[in-house]
Parts: sequence; structure tokens; C-alpha cells
Amino acid sequence: MMDRIPTAIAGLDELTGGGFVRGDVILITGSPGCGKTTFGLQFLYRGAVDYGERGIFVTLEESPARVIRNVWQFGWGIERLVKENKMRILRADPVAYTHYIPNHRNNDTAHIDIGSAMVETISKQIEQQVKEIGAKRIFIDSITSLKIAQNELQVRFTILELIKNLENLECTTVISSEICPGTSLYEAFSVEEYLSEVVIRMHVFRSCGTRVRAVEILKMRGGRHDETMRPYAIGDSGLVIYPRETVVDGGIANMAAVL
Ligand SMILES: Nc1ncnc2c1ncn2[C@@H]1O[C@H](COP(=O)(O)OP(=O)(O)O)[C@@H](O)[C@H]1O
Ligand SMILES: [Mg+2]
Repeated sequence: MMDRIPTAIAGLDELTGGGFVRGDVILITGSPGCGKTTFGLQFLYRGAVDYGERGIFVTLEESPARVIRNVWQFGWGIERLVKENKMRILRADPVAYTHYIPNHRNNDTAHIDIGSAMVETISKQIEQQVKEIGAKRIFIDSITSLKIAQNELQVRFTILELIKNLENLECTTVISSEICPGTSLYEAFSVEEYLSEVVIRMHVFRSCGTRVRAVEILKMRGGRHDETMRPYAIGDSGLVIYPRETVVDGGIANMAAVL
């Protein structure tokens, strides 16, 4: 029997057949503003408050202060959780690495690329924090930042390395990944999508002048899952998925994607 944990996202347990499988790596993809950060922080915040699972939040883009401020409106007191050791925030700045690494290069390490160095450092930091507070959940926001200044092969290796390290920690991990606006909905899977056990894609469409948000589970290894695009909303208490509703009658064919 696979051990399941509540996703802490309203409506999502129903679509995943009872939650996430403990220890899995779950990828959340979508365009900017679709709600990936909200998803991940809800997974951590509600996970800690409602289910007693402590969490590590790794932010590679936004400053912790900004993130904390943004989710305050949902009633999520992140700072209190941090004070109570129920959550830890790790700030990793990929841009800083691009300055730092070349300065410390010598002949022996000239072959080291930025991605591997970042992943090694970040993995060690995450592991230490996980041990310190006994964390069960991790959210990494976002993996897209690890792709800077690298060629395709390096990106593949970097992300493979990170996911492998995360799988050793016995935590359930959510990773966000940005899809560039304008990218086709049905493009081939990206590297991180191949490597994650679960892939959830969030869409924002425009239909008759109205913004429509919809989520679909593209992949969930080793389990039955819903295959329909389901509407979701971001409201006063965070993200809510409507697991029994469909997006529009007649499918999404009439909608112009604003991805
Ligand atoms: N109280 C709210 N009511 C409705 N929508 C909200 C509210 N707060 C934030 N949002 C929406 O959430 C989005 C931000 O989500 P975020 O998780 O930061 O997205 P991402 O990380 O994918 O860029 C904004 O585009 C905004 O439309
Ligand atoms: Mg975000």
C-alpha cells in the first residue's frame, strides 16, 4: 500500500485518488501569475497547521519578505510558523552564483558548471534544515531559475541531480516550473516533467473576456488520477479546485489561450 498524504489543496485529493504519495516529487507548471507559488505555500502552510507536517520553503526568485507579505491576505502567518520551527525558509539566489563561482575557480575546478554547484549547495542546505526541524514537506520555487547560463545537457543533469537528492530525503516535494507565455499547450514534456512522478499543469485562458483558470493532472506515476481539466480559483483562503466541474461546455477549443 502506498502511503498517501493530504495535498492541502481544496479539491485536489479527490482528483489524485486520495492525496500525494508520500516521498514523491510533484511538479507544478504554468505561466506567470497562474498560482504556482500560492499552490506550494498552501501545501506547506496547511500541511503544517492542519496535518502537523513541517515544511521547508526554498525560494529562488522572490524574496522571503515579499512572499510572506503576498500570502498574508490568505490568513497564512508564515512568520509565526517559522518562529515555532514548523517552517523554514531558504533563500537561494541563482544570480549570485553566476558572480560567485568564476571568482573561486582554479584550474582544477574550471569544469564545474554553475548548475551543479548550485544544486550541491542547495541540496545540502535543504537536507540540514529538514533534519533540524524534522520536515516532511518541501516546496522549491522555482526550478526555472536553475536553468540560467547552462546548455541543454547541463540543465538536464542539474535537474536530475536535484531530484535525485530530494528523493533521498523522505519528504514529499512540490517544485514549481515556469512555462513561457506563448508556449504551446501541447509541447513536448520538459526535462523536469519527465523526471517528476507527478505533473500538474495550471492554465489561464481568456473566454469571452473572462479569465478562466483550469488545472489538469498530466501525469501521476503508479496511480489512477483524473484526466479532465478542472476549474480552480484563488480566493480569500487560497487555492480551490472544483473537482467535479468542467471548464466550459464543449471543451476548451473555443478559448484563446493566453498562456
Ligand atoms: N485574493 C485574491 N483573489 C483572487 N486572486 C488572487 C488573490 N490573491 C492573488 N490572486 C491571484 O494569484 C496570482 C498570483 O499567484 P502566484 O501564486 O504568485 O502565481 P505564480 O507563482 O504562478 O506566478 C495573481 O495573478 C492573482 O491573480
Ligand atoms: Mg511564483
